[in-house]
Amino acid sequence: MPLQGSLVLITGAARRVGRSLALACARAGAHVAIHYGRSQAEAESLAAEVQALGRRACLLQADLNDPASAAGLVEQAAAFGPLFGLVNNASVFEPLDWQSTSLADWNRHLAVNLTAPFLLSQAFARQLAGGEGRIVNLLDWRALRPGPDHLPYTISKAALAALTRSLAAALAPAVTVNGLALGAILPPVDGPSSGAALPPGVPAGRWASLDEVDRALLFLLDGPAYITGEILHVDGGRHLT
Ligand SMILES: NC(=O)c1ccc[n+]([C@@H]2O[C@H](COP(=O)([O-])OP(=O)(O)OC[C@H]3O[C@@H](n4cnc5c(N)ncnc54)[C@H](OP(=O)(O)O)[C@@H]3O)[C@@H](O)[C@H]2O)c1
Repeated sequence: MPLQGSLVLITGAARRVGRSLALACARAGAHVAIHYGRSQAEAESLAAEVQALGRRACLLQADLNDPASAAGLVEQAAAFGPLFGLVNNASVFEPLDWQSTSLADWNRHLAVNLTAPFLLSQAFARQLAGGEGRIVNLLDWRALRPGPDHLPYTISKAALAALTRSLAAALAPAVTVNGLALGAILPPVDGPSSGAALPPGVPAGRWASLDEVDRALLFLLDGPAYITGEILHVDGGRHLT
């Protein structure tokens, strides 16, 4: 169980999917470096929950739109203990199409969804100094089926899928690099808080449970080290339709 007693850095961990992933890691025996952007109160509450599970938690604030802040995060986390895992979860997801996307929108999506995961992965692999580690990137079924909606988001996730595979080859054998391509897990943060309609084209016919995403993450963090460069869909078959 490589996760037992090891330290995992999760970006955007204070809320929603990231929070669930952080608690799943803690329940599996890991200590958690909780990165947050704006959600300080939620991050503090999560840290208390992680500690109540008997694990250590440290809080790291950084605006991932700023490459220097992103690059410094790993060093701050590593000061807390040797890192074993990096989960690139933080993301910008805005309903923009080719006409409405400004240069600033484009740059923000690429900075948070692609540049930050790259800089974090680079710093993570360097600090391992040949030791064993795992990187998991949170992707989207759209990453491998780019369409016209959420254009800068989709392109950034498609590039992150490519980065997942490139780094899997580059960092082997010490570090595995895999992706979780999610589908309908939670309604968008700016949508209705409850009762959101299931998007069309989900063969499973329902939203996922957060537990299903958690279990997939634990498999990639704690499962066979021979799996790398894999993009595991947790989307109820959405990518097939
Ligand atoms: N939810 C879904 O159904 C779904 C579907 C497909 C893929 N995914 C992927 O799964 C992951 C988690 O999804 P989610 O819906 O939980 O994500 P989310 O709520 O949209 O965003 C997660 C966190 O990202 C952080 N973040 C955004 N911009 C940031 C910045 N400039 N600096 C620092 N942090 C920043 C925010 O942290 P703060 O709140 O601390 O600012 C936010 O809470 C994402 O990568 C997403 O693309 C989710």
